[in-house]
Amino acid sequence: MTRIVYLAIAFSVFAVAAPAQEPSAKRGREIYMKTGCYTCHGTVGQGTSVGLKLAPDPLPAEAIANFIRNTDTTAPSYAAMPTYSADVLSDAEVADIAAFLATVPPSKDPDTIPALKGLTATR
Ligand code: HEC
Repeated sequence: MTRIVYLAIAFSVFAVAAPAQEPSAKRGREIYMKTGCYTCHGTVGQGTSVGLKLAPDPLPAEAIANFIRNTDTTAPSYAAMPTYSADVLSDAEVADIAAFLATVPPSKDPDTIPALKGLTATR
C-alpha cells in the first residue's frame, strides 16, 4: 500500500514537473480547422474575401497570439473576427496554430507553371 502511495506521488510530481509541450504544426492544423479559422482565412491561411491572408510568411507567434486574444471588436473599422479567450483556445493551442502557419510553403512562381507562364500581369 505504501509503495502505491509513493508511486502515485512520484507520478504526480512528474506530471507537474514535465516541461510544457513543444508547439506542434500537426496539432495546430487540427485546431485551426476545428476552431473554424479556416472559414475566414482559408484552409492554409491563404485568405478569403472575409479574412486576411495569414500564411505563407506569417506574423511572429507572439503577434498572432496577441491579435487573437485582443481583437478589438468595438473598433469602427472592425471587420468580423471574434476574440478568442484562453477559455476557448489555450496558450499552447495558439502556439500550435502559429507553428502550423509557419509551415505553409510559399506559392510557386507562376512562371514555373506551364499553363500560367507569361499570363501574369506586369510586375
Ligand atoms: C469570422 C471570420 C474570422 C474568423 C473565424 C477568424 N478570423 Fe482572423 N481575421 C478576420 C478578419 C476580418 C481579420 C482582419 C481584422 C482586423 O484587422 O481587425 C482577421 C485578422 C487576423 C489576424 C491578423 C492578421 C494581420 O496580418 O493583421 C490573425 C493573426 C488572425 N486573424 C488569426 C485568426 C485565427 C488563428 C483564427 C482562429 C482561431 C481566426 N483568425 C479566426 C476574420 C476571422
